[in-house]
Amino acid sequence: MKIIVTGGTGYIGSHTVVELQQDGHEVVIVDNLANSTINVLDGIQGITGTRPAFEKIDLTDRPATLDFFARHKDARAVIHFAALKAVGESVSKPLEYYYNNLNSLMNVLAGMRGNGIPNLVFSSSCTVYGQADVLPVTERTPRHEAESPYGNTKVMSEDIIRDLMRVEKSMNGIALRYFNPIGAHPSALIGELPVGVPNNLIPYLTQTAAGIREQLSVFGDDYDTPDGSPLRDYIDVVDLAKAHVVAIRRLLEGKNKANYEYFNIGTGRALSVLEIIAAFERATGVKVNYKIVGRRAGDIEKVWADTTLANNELGWRAEVPIEQTLANAWKWQQRLASK
Ligand code: NAD
Ligand code: WQD
Repeated sequence: MKIIVTGGTGYIGSHTVVELQQDGHEVVIVDNLANSTINVLDGIQGITGTRPAFEKIDLTDRPATLDFFARHKDARAVIHFAALKAVGESVSKPLEYYYNNLNSLMNVLAGMRGNGIPNLVFSSSCTVYGQADVLPVTERTPRHEAESPYGNTKVMSEDIIRDLMRVEKSMNGIALRYFNPIGAHPSALIGELPVGVPNNLIPYLTQTAAGIREQLSVFGDDYDTPDGSPLRDYIDVVDLAKAHVVAIRRLLEGKNKANYEYFNIGTGRALSVLEIIAAFERATGVKVNYKIVGRRAGDIEKVWADTTLANNELGWRAEVPIEQTLANAWKWQQRLASK
């Protein structure tokens, strides 16, 4: 089945393209390469033996996007990854984030509706829950007011899709709320490509282990958690990619129970920053130079997923052990350093 993947040369998109191809789908990637490179196609081809079709289009360009969809009417589904995702940058550039993330979504939806492409899987985020009062969070946990313009684009995007699906009964959508995606493909042919100084924990940690950064700052050890550092639900990127394949299958087979559904995609397990460092050292034998510093502004204390719905309805569960995920992240870091 032909599937359109927006943002398919990006971190999560590229891993999902691999899993889609390995499940027998034909993939067309559309991406403007704002935060990825064309070489990612080599990595995908190296893993699967098939080079996915690729078109370089900015999805905020409405005529170009509608033209793209008109040429790919035979696609049966779209996975919409394309978005800007740096939380801190979104605070300093709110208009750029709203413009990019919301216009590209609306153009994609118009392209789908105008060409009879019925099925959408959308990349949402645990950011929509903020600091939830009750943990772990289920899909019925109330969303909190977003902490950043980026987070707000996810809340607003979920609602734009919901409102469209209410009137377009022939269209179907699934929003996957990812927790903290980490790791890389075990082949080390694709992975995350952080630009500049990483904001996220794992790329900062692996760059520190590789000697590119001097020291990892652990942002706070005075939280109300067992070791004082914040708790997150770190999900392996290949496990996450597989969740998209099962979501697509659910839509193509018409097994969805409503024409718009939401699923938490995490492991269901909370790990602290200090536990991640210890697991990395166990998995790789490499010591991490770190120091505890003050809290990072805007960080939440703890969040992890109740994944019962995804387990039962999608028949999906996270499988990769954290040590394996961190070993894959390290392997990818070493490959990046050798390039
Ligand atoms: P990424 O930056 O690696 O990939 C996004 C891709 O979208 C990039 O290749 C970029 O070039 C492309 N893109 C951005 N704007 C575009 C536009 N206007 N037109 C065409 N292409 C455009 O990010 P990722 O980590 O792979 O994230 C994928 C999706 O998952 C995003 O929607 C992100 O918000 C969401 N998400 C990511 C995380 C995370 O921690 N990585 C967590 C939750 C949700
Ligand atoms: C994880 C933990 C930090 C860096 C972000 C977005 C969220 C979602 C996932 C997209 C936190 C600590 C980090 C460092 C540290 N993305 N940390 N030292 O903040 O949980 O979530 O990515 O939707 O919306 O906000 O991820 O990787 O930045 O941080 O101690 O140098 O690591 O305090 O506890 P976060 P992260």
